[in-house]
Amino acid sequence: MHKIITLLSMAVIYSISYAQISTSVLPLIPLPKEVSRTNEEFVLTAKTKIVLPNNTFKPEVDYLNNYLQSNVHFQLAIVSSIPKKGNYISINPSSSKTGLKEGYDLKMNKNKIILVSEDNAGIFYGIETLIQLMPLNNNSISGDDKLSIQCANITDSPQYQWRSMLLDCSRHFFSKEEIKKYLDYLAMYKFNIFHWHLTDDQGWRIEIKKYPLLTSIGSKRKETAIGRPRDKKFDGIPSSGFYTQDDIKEIVAYATTRHITILPEIEMPGHSVAALAAYSQYSCTGGPFETKTSWGISKDVYCAGNDSTFLFLQNILSEVMDLFPGKYIHIGGDECPKDRWKACSKCQKRITDEKLSGENELQSYFVNRMEKYVHSKGKQIIGWDEILEQGLSPNATVMSWRGTKAGILAAKQKHFVVMTPTKPCYFDFYQDKDTLKEPYSFHGYNLLDAVYAFNPTPKELTKEDATYIMGAQGCVWTEFIPDFSNVEYMALPRMAALSETVWTPIAKKNYSDFILRLKLHAQTLDRMKVNYAKHFLNQ
Ligand code: ACM
Ligand code: ZN
Repeated sequence: MHKIITLLSMAVIYSISYAQISTSVLPLIPLPKEVSRTNEEFVLTAKTKIVLPNNTFKPEVDYLNNYLQSNVHFQLAIVSSIPKKGNYISINPSSSKTGLKEGYDLKMNKNKIILVSEDNAGIFYGIETLIQLMPLNNNSISGDDKLSIQCANITDSPQYQWRSMLLDCSRHFFSKEEIKKYLDYLAMYKFNIFHWHLTDDQGWRIEIKKYPLLTSIGSKRKETAIGRPRDKKFDGIPSSGFYTQDDIKEIVAYATTRHITILPEIEMPGHSVAALAAYSQYSCTGGPFETKTSWGISKDVYCAGNDSTFLFLQNILSEVMDLFPGKYIHIGGDECPKDRWKACSKCQKRITDEKLSGENELQSYFVNRMEKYVHSKGKQIIGWDEILEQGLSPNATVMSWRGTKAGILAAKQKHFVVMTPTKPCYFDFYQDKDTLKEPYSFHGYNLLDAVYAFNPTPKELTKEDATYIMGAQGCVWTEFIPDFSNVEYMALPRMAALSETVWTPIAKKNYSDFILRLKLHAQTLDRMKVNYAKHFLNQ
C-alpha cells in the first residue's frame, strides 16, 4: 500500500515539467536574493571548459567536477584563459569589494556562465545554485553526455551568517556515511553549520583518547525504549556506536569541502549519564550508573563540588578542540536538575566557599568555569538558553530553544544568539496535524508553513540589539527516530523551508512560490533517493 502511494505521488511530481511552470519559477531553494530567468539554455558537455585564472577557487571547482563525475560521468577541463572555441564556465574573484560575505553573482547565457565572488564560500554557493539548475532528471538530458541548463542571472547573499541544523547522534547512532549524507543536504540548502549532538544520557559518541571508557562503556546501552514512554516498552536489543578520532577528522574534512563548520556538543553538567556510567567518580553519589535506555531528564549529573570533574571535562574539551577547527564549542547546559547538588556535601561546600546564592548559581559557576577554560584556548562557548540564568560570561553565545524569550533577553544583554525555539524549529515534532498517521513522536507539531514563516529576529528588538541575532537552527532530536531514513523523513522538507528563513530576504519570501519550487526540486530529492515527507504535494 505504501509503495502504491509513493508511486502515485511520484507520478504527480514527474507530471510537472519546467515548461508547464510559470516562466519565473526555477527549482532553486533557498530562493536567491535576485533572480531573473532568461530564454536561453547553456548546453554543458564534456567539452565545456572551466576558466580559472588562479588556484584560489580550485577547491570549489574540484567539488563541481566531483559532482559532475558522480552524476554525469565526466569532468570539465580547467584552463587559465577564455577558450577560442566552445562554451565555458568562468570562475573569478570579484573586482569590487562589497564586504558581503558568502555572496556571489551568476550571469549566464548560451555561450558562457560567469560566476564571481569575493570569497570561496560565495563561489561554493554559486556552484550549488548552478547544480540546482542542472536538470538531471529532465528530458533535456540525452544520454549522460549533455546537460541543458536553464539560464538565469542571479545576485545572491545570505540574510544570516549562522545557518545550522542539529542531528542528535546520542539517542540513536548514525554512521559516518549517514552523517556525510546529512552534510550533503545541508550544503544543498546553503547551511553553513552542523551542530553535532555527540553526548547525552543514552550514549557517548566521540572517542576521547585519555578516557577510553567513555566509548568502551558509555557508547553502549543494553536496550532502547520503544513507542510511547508511558508504555515502558523496550526492544531488548543492545545498541552501540561511536566515531573514532579518525572518523571525526574525515567528517570534518568532508564538511570543510562543503563550507560547513561543525559545532560539536559535549553536554554538561546535565545529560551526562553515559559519561558517568564510565567514570562514576565525577558524579555526586559515586554511582554505579548505566547508560540510559529510556528518554527524559536524569537527576544524575556531574558533581560541581569536585575539582577533578572540571579537570576531566577540560581534558575532554582539549581533545575536542583539537579535532574541530571551528571557533565555537557547545557545552550543553540545558535541563540540569539540582537534586543531587542539594544533597552533596562537596557541592554544598562549593556554594559556601564561592559565596553562591544556591544550586542555580552553582550551575552558573559551572558553566562560567568551563567558559574560562575554553576561552583560554582561543575558542568560545555556546550553550542552551539555561546558561543565561544567574549570570553569564559576556563571551558566551546563547541558543534559544525554550521559545524566543531567552534569545531576546540575551540579545538585549549583548550576547550573540542563535534562535531555535521548539516551535517551529524542532523537526522531531509532527509535521501533520493528524498525528496518528505519522510515526510516533513528541507531542506537538511544526508544520512546513510555520517553519517557512519563522522570523529569527523578534520584533521586540531594537535595530542594534537585532544585530546580536546570528541566525537560526533546525533540530533533529532522535529519541523517536531510530534510523536515517526516518531522519530524512523528519528533516525534509522542513530543512528546505528553514533554509529560506535564514538565507532569503524576508520581502522575497512567499510560501506558495516556495511550494511550487519545492515540487520541482522534489525531482532532485527523488533522484537522490531521499525519504522526504510528501505532505506538500497536496498543497
Ligand atoms: C533541549 O531540547 N533540551 C535543548
Ligand atoms: Zn556534588
